[in-house]
Amino acid sequence: MTSSKSFFNAVKDRRSIYALNKESPVSDEAIEELVKQTILHAPSFFNTQSARLVVLLKKEHDVFWDMVKEVLKPVVPEDQFAATEQRLSMFRGGYGTILFFEDPAPVNDLMAKYPIYADNMPAWSQHGSAMHQYVLWAGLEAEGFGANLQHYNPVIDQKAQNHWNIPLEWSLKAQLVFGGKAGEPNEKTYKPVEERMFVYGK
Ligand SMILES: Cc1cc2nc3c(=O)[nH]c(=O)nc-3n(C[C@H](O)[C@H](O)[C@H](O)COP(=O)(O)O)c2cc1C
Repeated sequence: MTSSKSFFNAVKDRRSIYALNKESPVSDEAIEELVKQTILHAPSFFNTQSARLVVLLKKEHDVFWDMVKEVLKPVVPEDQFAATEQRLSMFRGGYGTILFFEDPAPVNDLMAKYPIYADNMPAWSQHGSAMHQYVLWAGLEAEGFGANLQHYNPVIDQKAQNHWNIPLEWSLKAQLVFGGKAGEPNEKTYKPVEERMFVYGK
């Protein structure tokens, strides 16, 4: 990885960037390496390692967003479809999409093994997925990409899973769209930090 950004600069600079283009600041191998390091090192509850990541680049990314359009067409009211189409073409304008799945098999094994924690485990599985999502969102920023997070699950799950031979038991949690930055993020407001964090014992 070539990034020279410190961890906290990437945390600060990460934003939802919707205006993306098909230019990549790094090689596909560097993207693959970033995803590989994320799946190796992002934490998961009880070290379950239940995250499953599917990276779609270039044409495969386009196919995914064409698919989303196809499945939404019959379900979105006709008068709203033009807006949906416009939004989807914005995502399609990017370079790649990472699909975040969770494999329920290792989660179910742990639920059976540790019934006392079982009720919390589905939520912890979601938290683990979110950690992978965030590492990659900030990691892609550090590499010079813009990215935004989408949730076209569950409408797209079956079609995408059939198309890319992804086990149907896996559960899709989110889609991280990324590409060259073609615009600025929207203005962001911040609630007072004092209402949101508390330090004792300083
Ligand atoms: C758990 C989570 C779910 C989100 N889901 C979506 C989504 O479905 N679509 C979308 O456009 N943005 C989504 N976002 C992006 C947020 O709207 C965005 O992060 C927030 O407004 C702050 O802006 P920033 O990302 O530029 O800092 C999501 C963010 C988080 C953390």
